[in-house]
Amino acid sequence: MEIKKYMSSDEKIALANLNPGAKKIFIETYGCQMNVADSELVYSIMIEDGFAVTDDYNIADLILINTCSVRDNAEQKIRNRLKVLGLVKRSRPGVLIGILGCMAERLKEQLIEEEKLVDIIAGPDSYRALPKLVAEAESGQKAINVLLSREETYAEISPVRKSKNKVTAFVSITRGCDNMCAFCVVPFTRGRERSRNPETILREVDEIISEGFKEITLLGQNVDKYNWNNGEVNFAGLLRMVAIKNPNLRVRFSTSYPQDFTDEVIKVMSEHENICKYIHLPVQAGSNNMLEKMRRGYTREWYLGRIKAIKTMIPDCAISTDIIAGYCSETEEDHKETLSLMEEVGYDYAYMFKYSPRPGTYAANNFPDDVSEEDKSRRLSEIIEIQHKLSLESNLKDLNKIFSVLVEGISKKSDERLFGRNSQNKVIVFPGKDFRIGTYVNVLVTDCTSATLLGHITSEDDLISKINKKI
Ligand code: SAH
Ligand code: F3S
Repeated sequence: MEIKKYMSSDEKIALANLNPGAKKIFIETYGCQMNVADSELVYSIMIEDGFAVTDDYNIADLILINTCSVRDNAEQKIRNRLKVLGLVKRSRPGVLIGILGCMAERLKEQLIEEEKLVDIIAGPDSYRALPKLVAEAESGQKAINVLLSREETYAEISPVRKSKNKVTAFVSITRGCDNMCAFCVVPFTRGRERSRNPETILREVDEIISEGFKEITLLGQNVDKYNWNNGEVNFAGLLRMVAIKNPNLRVRFSTSYPQDFTDEVIKVMSEHENICKYIHLPVQAGSNNMLEKMRRGYTREWYLGRIKAIKTMIPDCAISTDIIAGYCSETEEDHKETLSLMEEVGYDYAYMFKYSPRPGTYAANNFPDDVSEEDKSRRLSEIIEIQHKLSLESNLKDLNKIFSVLVEGISKKSDERLFGRNSQNKVIVFPGKDFRIGTYVNVLVTDCTSATLLGHITSEDDLISKINKKI
């Protein structure tokens, strides 16, 4: 039997691009990390189908846009982008344009009616059908597949990781979401929750390690619901299995859901040095009225209990959140409770949004979007202001500390500086040369802004004395 040698992403792309007659694919990705991971699956599927890969849409034969629907402004951005791509199509009519992801799933045929230049619509569960859809589109038909599946996890497909950053990689472990938060379109666009076979996850982790990556992020809309074979493997178990693969591989995960985030997960995190001490635990709002109306399934008190458990079991753990400003019927009192919760938790970082009604969701169907635009904007600014202060306070606490930093690349602002992150997911910038990319260095923090820590690599002596101190 022929044994197929494992090929790295770069080798696969190089081989595909050797064929001068191959049609070229270009993918542009918007939205969450899951979309980034999905685009890597699509590259894999299309390379297998004989496509070459390009970074230049001006020479591509197939342009795919992997889209986000979570807020209206995300969709508007993509519609504007389509106008630009329309010019490409006018100059080269043979080019095919496809919409993937959440907008494809949400709008279906309507998108083809509204955006005449679109040839292909493929929802998140129909990427295996893409070669067939492309063939249909080549024959002049509009091609659509938006079927959602209860099983599809693309488990055995090895993603082609095209990004230049060969330091950190994504691995998807669950797809879909069953939570049905009242404001959220994701359950409609990504379908039912399902977990991927752990064997295929661990195999992918091995591949990632063999390609030289140093950090992985396990991905799912709600990773805490990971459940293989009726509880045979839960998220804590999977996390442990991944962590023990290689102590030099950093492990992150996203996103956790407060209701499902267990002490067992916190315990596994505390037991393994290489599981990063960082948790993204979206709260959305601080008042129980809003939480109930959002159908989040937990109260402010319960959420604070989870935070307490994290801080008790992992004192140096960083915590971030998502917050929505101006949800349906939110009062000034409700808003103040969000601000006070932020202070109480002392978030290290936050992603903050104005509420945007999404058609078809429970909130859009049942509650008026009745907070004025002016109030929404003001409340969002107040939330951002508080977070700015909290992030700065958090960073000031790190002055004079030494962190192990995984170097990810050259700083955008200066060729003489590198950047990387510490276990707590904070970005640290320091002088250095690119041969360090992908290595761990010890950085002493000497300065900071609210967004970034600044420092320098510590000398061997500093390092040894730090290690001695630990012992
Ligand atoms: N569990 C997912 C959440 C996806 S949506 C994850 O893996 O990240 C990401 C964030 O967008 C949510 O946490 C919420 O804060 C925000 N969001 C979702 N729907 C929204 C809406 N209709 N308006 C404003 N923000 C929204
Ligand atoms: Fe959306 Fe809530 Fe799931 S925010 S992705 S429905 S956990």
